[in-house]
Amino acid sequence: MSSDVVVEAKNLSHVYSNGIVALNNINITIRRGEFVALIGHNGSGKTTLAKHINGLLKPTSGQIIVHRMDTREVSVADLAKKVGYVFQNPDHQLCMKTVWEELAFGPRNLGTPEDEVKQVVDEILRLFGLERYRDVHPFLLSRADRLRVALCSVLTMRPETLVVDEPTTGQDMRQSYEVMEILKKLNKEGRTVVFITHNMRLVAEYAERCIIMKDGKVFMDKPTREALTDFEKLRQAQLKPPQVTILSARLANIGFHEPALSVNEFVENVKAFLNNKYKSL
Ligand SMILES: Nc1ncnc2c1ncn2[C@@H]1O[C@H](COP(=O)(O)OP(=O)(O)O)[C@@H](O)[C@H]1O
Ligand SMILES: [Mg+2]
Repeated sequence: MSSDVVVEAKNLSHVYSNGIVALNNINITIRRGEFVALIGHNGSGKTTLAKHINGLLKPTSGQIIVHRMDTREVSVADLAKKVGYVFQNPDHQLCMKTVWEELAFGPRNLGTPEDEVKQVVDEILRLFGLERYRDVHPFLLSRADRLRVALCSVLTMRPETLVVDEPTTGQDMRQSYEVMEILKKLNKEGRTVVFITHNMRLVAEYAERCIIMKDGKVFMDKPTREALTDFEKLRQAQLKPPQVTILSARLANIGFHEPALSVNEFVENVKAFLNNKYKSL
């Protein structure tokens, strides 16, 4: 296994005790520094796969190697030093009486000395503009802020890899972009980020690569542009490309070369198109 591989699933399957085959022979490799969107229709197996990356669930068959550890052979605590997992529902994660204690919980569990805990918690609170909530009970915060606290409480463990399950559900568009900008910044600093979302606009604008799940299988694993412009495959996976991508693809017959993934890109395409048109007049 090459040193820059952080996640490698080999013939990974997971069958829940009720007989549901949630993962069916998954093979994926994720490398250090990637920014990956894990997408798919409800029930396609995204959360089950995410929980295998942090060892909360173990393979029924096959294996998954995470930061060179076979998840069946190491504890969740050992994996937590490398992989941070932010739950789909922040309320499943928050358990302390104040925001400060919540952020300190993870590093304390890892045995971090108390002066370092204080340093990292204060730093992350400052970074996220959450200082004013330091003594507030997490459950008194809005859902958007609870989610940020959940994300921060993972970041205080300084994980190299971050898996975030539906970080923007229940957030408005501005808050969604805020969360995505934070993930982008963490990725730019060198962390590997895997995020799950239903918001295809965010996938288009942030992910470098899309792993599309369907019925417990990897249905497509491609760079974002390729994945989101294959409308037929997306339809089969019951996913819709961003509206601007559909619109720009419809304009192909009047000279648009490539479907746009974002509104900004669309605007650039329009400018180029008009420049060309006037040049030829
Ligand atoms: N704890 C569980 N026990 C039994 N079946 C489950 C459990 N969690 C999820 N499933 C089933 O496994 C399949 C995949 O679920 P999940 O991984 O949550 O999908 P997604 O996150 O893509 O919506 C679904 O059919 C779901 O009903
Ligand atoms: Mg899910």
